[in-house]
Amino acid sequence: MSMHAPHGERIGIADLAGMKANGERIVMVTAYDYPSAGVADAAGVDVVLVGDSGAMTVLGYDSTVPVTVDEMLVLCRAARRGAHRPLLVGDLPFGSYEGSDADAVATAQRFVKEAGCDAVKLEGGGSSVERARAIVRAGIPVMGHVGLTPQTAASDGGLRARGRTAEEALAVLDAARALEDAGCFSIVFEAMPAAAAAAIALQLSVPVIGIGAGADVDGQVLVFHDLLGIHDGAPARFVKRYDALRDRMIAGVASFTDDVRSSGYPAPEHTYGMPAEEQTRLEELLAAR
Ligand code: KIV
Repeated sequence: MSMHAPHGERIGIADLAGMKANGERIVMVTAYDYPSAGVADAAGVDVVLVGDSGAMTVLGYDSTVPVTVDEMLVLCRAARRGAHRPLLVGDLPFGSYEGSDADAVATAQRFVKEAGCDAVKLEGGGSSVERARAIVRAGIPVMGHVGLTPQTAASDGGLRARGRTAEEALAVLDAARALEDAGCFSIVFEAMPAAAAAAIALQLSVPVIGIGAGADVDGQVLVFHDLLGIHDGAPARFVKRYDALRDRMIAGVASFTDDVRSSGYPAPEHTYGMPAEEQTRLEELLAAR
């Protein structure tokens, strides 16, 4: 657990900067509801990200693109109720911030006012840099996200690692620097060669949180459902599975199914009792009807 933010106090963005300065690794996980955020808090993570990955992990969409602001706000509100100590970052979904600074600020304000987020995250460099600057100017902390940016991957090279050539790595550096200059307090690097991520992170003063970006950055993030094995399907190369909860959940529900079908559940200990005289009276009253 971080030495910053004394026990019980909410972690702030200054604490993350302090952790970077002290060489303490920052731990971020995604969460999308009250129990998963509570688990993250109890496990001592520093930052809970209500990622738009929730579009896929909990809402069942094929990509992050369809999720709406209203859907994200439901997930953020539930996560806020479960996460007390971690900084809570809400992911601005595709289409909710790109159009104009005014759109970006209005959407970010909803995440703070209606869902209690401490900060928001947006994807990409380019026009996202100006959107980030506008949101920061409106008083809302912003986390950037470069490298692979899933919201635009379909129109921008697909779901592949970024920065594998020196030129592409420099383009990621330029985007990250611009986001830092715009006031972002931290930047996510997704799916990049470890050597490129490490070299670029050294050029930045804000904490870099990696996902599939190697060990030499300031912190790591994984998707809750990936790290606990709640997904079916093969995980991405960078995912380390710390459990196989989906298999265990299926086994649990299958045992319940077997018990019900074989009358093994409910047993007497799961059943409410009734005084014998009340039972007799009930039988008499039923018979008299
Ligand atoms: O939506 C998400 O979960 C993310 C992380 C992969 C950083 O953006």
